[in-house]
Amino acid sequence: MSNLVDIIKISNIIVADRAREDYADIKDLTEKIRVRGLIQPIAVKELSGGKYLLLAGGRRLAACKRLVMETIPARVFPGDLTEVDEKEVELSENIDRKDLSLHERWKLEKAIHDLYMARAGGPKVSKAPGAPGHSLRDTAKLLGKSHQQIATHVMLATAMEESPEMKQALSRVKTDKDAIKVLRAANKIIEASENRKRVEAGYIPKVHKDLMEAFNIGDAFEGLSSVEDKSINILEIDPPYGIDLLHNKKSQTSAGVQNITTYEEVEESDYSEFIDRLLSIASTKLSEDGWLILWFAVQYYEMIKTAIENHGLIVCRTPGIWVKPQGQTNRPDTLLASCYESFFYARKANSKINKQGMKNTFLYNMVPPQFKVHPAERPIEMIECILQTFANPSSKIKVAVPFCGSGNTLLAAANLGMIGIGWDNSQQYKDAFVQRVVAGKPPNYKSYS
Ligand SMILES: C[S@@+](CC[C@H](N)C(=O)[O-])C[C@H]1O[C@@H](n2cnc3c(N)ncnc32)[C@H](O)[C@@H]1O
Repeated sequence: MSNLVDIIKISNIIVADRAREDYADIKDLTEKIRVRGLIQPIAVKELSGGKYLLLAGGRRLAACKRLVMETIPARVFPGDLTEVDEKEVELSENIDRKDLSLHERWKLEKAIHDLYMARAGGPKVSKAPGAPGHSLRDTAKLLGKSHQQIATHVMLATAMEESPEMKQALSRVKTDKDAIKVLRAANKIIEASENRKRVEAGYIPKVHKDLMEAFNIGDAFEGLSSVEDKSINILEIDPPYGIDLLHNKKSQTSAGVQNITTYEEVEESDYSEFIDRLLSIASTKLSEDGWLILWFAVQYYEMIKTAIENHGLIVCRTPGIWVKPQGQTNRPDTLLASCYESFFYARKANSKINKQGMKNTFLYNMVPPQFKVHPAERPIEMIECILQTFANPSSKIKVAVPFCGSGNTLLAAANLGMIGIGWDNSQQYKDAFVQRVVAGKPPNYKSYS
């Protein structure tokens, strides 16, 4: 591309829709040009009739207009410049500028990517060297950026193009990271409503439909009461803890800490009655060789152990322990980081441990915040291990989960080919569960990736 620097009349320059939109700091630039003159020429394409199309330098041109200048130095590109060449000029002028806003950068990079795609006749058909087509990797190489960066920017620019609501939401963010968070949150809401519609319309594979139906929205007591007596092989209960979770647990989920507001707690003064009522139903549902797994807060050790015994189950006085390699505390000045949670395991007269000789500690990391949907979520991998400890995986094993929260126990049971049923009174947790159900398939549901 030959390009000559010329002095051209400002009135002959046509300004079309361009990537740069924000001329907010134009005052400063105008002042600089007034004092020092224009150091960097603008770029234009020659049109017929002595006119020029602006390719790059919109802010500089606007500043010169404010100074009522009649002419401006410009690099003049020939009229046969292709659209891709034009974009290349604009890119080379703009892409390294520090003052390009976040949104202008996304838009510009996407425009370049789209143009190169169009010129190459579409996306790359294979990863083989020299394969026809154009890929995000090619654009990344061209712009000297990482594939991940370009993929993210193109995705964000596309989202802004496709929806006015997204454009509005994304135009408020200041970093790529925040933009991704906004996009993820919006996508979750859209996916959840689409999933619901698909289920209602019946367009769902059976394996997913069964799992979705296994998670019931409603009261755990009523749900468990409706189950046939002595039909449950494993009853995994992780009830509200009777402690003020909002103050005692610093929890971050992928959807943010606001998730915690849907978490329903039980008052300390009502807790022993709550546990007694729960166990009176639970004990009648366990099969003759069944196991109860009941998570508890250590301050209720004695009360809960006694309640389990009063309802006719044989409970081991040494609980099972989930050991978390990384502890948590929101008061490091006075409290050590808490590294464990405990569960009682209790049985009927004929129950036998499946994996005999297993240790009573289960060493598993917490679910990483970016994958977390529930403040008290147990990792699927650990629950699988616990379920297999107590029952041999098969479709004959029925697992009931009265306070199923994230639904991870249902996913763990599905991974093992067991039949799960659960209840939680939060629609929000069910929505998050449904998304994970449709995104995978047993035996591949995971918490760590
Ligand atoms: C400790 S969390 C369970 C977390 C779960 N183990 C997991 O891995 O995600 C307790 C759950 O019980 C639910 N809940 C509280 N009271 C309930 C009730 N009466 N009926 C149904 N669900 C209830 C809360 O919404 C919360 O999700």
